Amino acid sequence: MSTVSTRTAICESHSKLILVGEHAVVYGKPAIAMPFPLKVRVTIQKAVGPIMFESSIYTGPIDSMTVKMKGIKACIEESLRCVDQPFANLRIRIDSAIPLGRGLGSSAAIAIAIVRSIFSLFQQGLSEEHLFSLVQIAETYAHGKPSGIDTAAEISEYPIWFQKGKEIVPLVIGIPLYIVVADTGRNGDTHTAVDNVRKMYVSETEKVQNSLDEIGTIGELAREALLKGDVYLLGNLLYRNHEELKILGVSDGELNNLVEIARNAGALGAKLTGGGLGGCILALGESLEHAEVIATQLMDSGVSNVWYFSTEENILYSLK
Ligand code: PMV
Repeated sequence: MSTVSTRTAICESHSKLILVGEHAVVYGKPAIAMPFPLKVRVTIQKAVGPIMFESSIYTGPIDSMTVKMKGIKACIEESLRCVDQPFANLRIRIDSAIPLGRGLGSSAAIAIAIVRSIFSLFQQGLSEEHLFSLVQIAETYAHGKPSGIDTAAEISEYPIWFQKGKEIVPLVIGIPLYIVVADTGRNGDTHTAVDNVRKMYVSETEKVQNSLDEIGTIGELAREALLKGDVYLLGNLLYRNHEELKILGVSDGELNNLVEIARNAGALGAKLTGGGLGGCILALGESLEHAEVIATQLMDSGVSNVWYFSTEENILYSLK
């Protein structure tokens, strides 16, 4: 959604879930990601003076932003250069329902909504490819060497088949999926998790390569399962994917416990989603009612929040 006048532009972006393939995607394996209906809205207004930024984590002049937010600043700078505007005379406000650092792609979503707003305000066309490259400026500061899956999944309105450097393919899923997402409330650390896998790749090459290959195979099989509408096979692949992520050292006790709670509630599949070492798990239910049962059991275990939804409806249920 976007609203534009000569003085103000308001644009949104949604968050994302990685269904299968995180971490292995950094090594060129395929992954599947999909839109998650939590959203961020950015309002940009023309206002004379230095750029002022307003968000839940920082409010003030853009030049005094913390080092952590350097990527957003660089992305804004480059976007303004592209629309022939000075790095000044704006008020940027972020309203986000996406919890930060939980593997839901909050940083990419914020950057997407900012770039869209800048181009809308100055009435410039913006291709998906250009949007992708501008957002990757911010993502590179946030994640080191991001594969680009977060940005691609959040630009898309459909689930995507993603392989680094290759064309992004929208996936038409033949059946509704009933998905539960449980948030540990602990920030994940994608940068550290990706770094740990890289170090482990050096010290235990064969073990890590086997895991990456297995995740690649899981990705191929998951795509077939989605296209055939076989949710039972898909669920089984999610459990298998989680086991591989454990081997790669990016899961932890709480995430493993949540996967087991989902399994005991009859989930067809469950796994951590995103970078890991905190953050969220996702689980697959047989119906919306079943998703609610799984969600309730996860919530009762003391997590910070649980959402569930059907890919057929545009409604996100939250248990908080
Ligand atoms: O931003 P996160 O936590 O959803 O992680 C992105 C997925 C990784 O594969 C772990 C990293 C990447 O760049 O693809």
